[in-house]
Amino acid sequence: MIHQSLGVCYYPEHWPETRWAEDAGMMRNIGLTFVRVGEFAWSRLEPRPRLYNFEWLRRAIDILHAAGLKVVLGTPTATPPKWLVDKMPDMVALDATGRPRKFGSRRHYCFSHEGYAGECDRIVTEIAKVFGAHPGVVAWQIDNEYGCHDTVESYSAAAQHAFRQWCAIKYGSIDALNQAWGNVFWSMELSSFDEIELPNLTVAEANPSHRLDFQRFSSDQVVAFNRRQVRILRQYSPGRTILHNFMGSFTAFDHYALSEDLDAAAWDSYPLGYLERGPRDDEFKQRYLRVGDPDYQAFHHDLYRACGHGRWWVVEQQPGPVNWAPWNPSPAKGAVRLWTYEAFAAGAEVVSYFRWRQAPFAQEQMHEELLLPNAEPNEAYHVVAQISQELTKLDAHVETERSAIALVFDYESEWAWNIQPHGQDFSYLELVMTFYRGLRRAGLSVDLIPPASEAVVGRKLVLLPGLFAPRAELVEALAKCGAVILMGPRSGSKTADFQIPTNLPPGSLSTLIDLKVRHVESLRPGIVIPIAGCDTCRFEGWREFLVLGEGVEVVLKSADGEVALARNNRHFYLAGRPNKRLLDDLLCRLVAQAGISPLDLPEDIRIRDNGAIRFVFNYGREAVDISKIIGKASLLLGERLLPPCGVAVFRRTMPETAGAPRTAP
Ligand code: GAL
Repeated sequence: MIHQSLGVCYYPEHWPETRWAEDAGMMRNIGLTFVRVGEFAWSRLEPRPRLYNFEWLRRAIDILHAAGLKVVLGTPTATPPKWLVDKMPDMVALDATGRPRKFGSRRHYCFSHEGYAGECDRIVTEIAKVFGAHPGVVAWQIDNEYGCHDTVESYSAAAQHAFRQWCAIKYGSIDALNQAWGNVFWSMELSSFDEIELPNLTVAEANPSHRLDFQRFSSDQVVAFNRRQVRILRQYSPGRTILHNFMGSFTAFDHYALSEDLDAAAWDSYPLGYLERGPRDDEFKQRYLRVGDPDYQAFHHDLYRACGHGRWWVVEQQPGPVNWAPWNPSPAKGAVRLWTYEAFAAGAEVVSYFRWRQAPFAQEQMHEELLLPNAEPNEAYHVVAQISQELTKLDAHVETERSAIALVFDYESEWAWNIQPHGQDFSYLELVMTFYRGLRRAGLSVDLIPPASEAVVGRKLVLLPGLFAPRAELVEALAKCGAVILMGPRSGSKTADFQIPTNLPPGSLSTLIDLKVRHVESLRPGIVIPIAGCDTCRFEGWREFLVLGEGVEVVLKSADGEVALARNNRHFYLAGRPNKRLLDDLLCRLVAQAGISPLDLPEDIRIRDNGAIRFVFNYGREAVDISKIIGKASLLLGERLLPPCGVAVFRRTMPETAGAPRTAP
């Protein structure tokens, strides 16, 4: 049984050594268990080439350990020091315009540079040898936020060389590559792998097949870079949890693939920063200014739980205003606590705040933390103390189980539709998130899953909107699994080579529902396709024109007479991007068919089940009576009149009957 606990990110190198013991004592006093250190400290650990100075870090870890804290040690490879960059200036990445990503902040390296990778092997080996067996070190964080600041793709000579090798391994012959990419088009044919260039700086758009392969390659480079460090840490520090901190809305590499080498996935949750920086409209941003998007954090919790095969952390949790969004408001009173419980409700093992004390210097001096720059407690310090007491009372532990509902999120689909959106506002991530939001609004706890056959087994409802090119094994597993399945729009509309399937979209998915997508259209904002029989249901931005085969029935039509929703028994195909109303109606229909009861929740109320424990959250500005949701159960935390940012927790007795059931249309 894994107990849920709290942590913090700490930078002993920023503060006088005389302060460390007091910091450690205060951390314990407010109930923190984990402390992450060291992930940016290369210039202090190796101030000159091969001149190591690990003693200060040993003293810091000793002090933290003596205070009863468990240390998560970072490898410092996100911040190569100046002497190293000067020694091998071509280790920096080049952006798509060919300009170097210079020294002076962080992540200034190219994943394909073998010389840099060797330097990482060396420093990680030295650190792991010294600290790997330290009893205070219980976990490792490798590097920091791979890809942050757009650093996955590099257009360097090292990347070009490695990409040619990658293509040679993948295709075996240049003819096979020409065929797969369709290079006969515009005379792009190549006669050897050495002629392959990177897909930047072309006059018109580069070939989508070329671009997709470059993205796959760039993703593989990140995975390989990470794997080298995993191997070293496993050798010198066996038995420790190895993790990496992912980010929100960040999709440039395959997080499922990278996580295969980790023990647990983790991510950095900055609800207000992500909201301000994200794509929602002004009305939405104003409404949730101080609490964040009610579904965004939950989406990522569920995604990274899938990456970690159930094991995941929040390594950096926003405790106050950040410094990096266009605007940086303060959280509402109670919001930090709300975010913390939302993570625990989704099964997080640890929620760790970023960071202990506000640095008065350098890039993040305006980023608020648990302590003020002068070491006095800031507001969140007291909030954290309260949460840790509550966790003890709740005896909080991870209880998540496989959900009946699975929503596929696929990195390759995200790359493909970024490369070829066809309509400028078509976003795969947003499409999947739209379905996720609809399911949350219906009070349903969902698993996000990779497009893998074992992930669909045992589900009652599987949704795969926009899935680019499903593998044969997945299609087979879907056919066998007996679940209600929703496909479309755009599902199965390409082959893995980024070509239109010869049998027309949805390609191999037509074995689940016999239809063809003859053509599609994308539509500018403001143009809508009304759905017949429902005043406010419509397609927006995208729609498809279907021809149905044998045994496929029409469930919904557009007002202009085209098929909007088709059905073959338990398999459905949706021919456009639904607005909120259409989506809610559709989900009601699908969950009813799958034998699942949705709930009728007030607008800003959200629910998440951690096994038998149900959490209720209020993201609104008014108190809401949640008695109907709680029924006869007694509350372990919170009140029936749930205040803004309130959290209520109770043990469910009969999951299907809790709350007010919603009726299917
Ligand atoms: C994260 C990063 C931290 C810090 C933080 C500020 O993206 O991992 O090092 O920069 O953002 O919010």
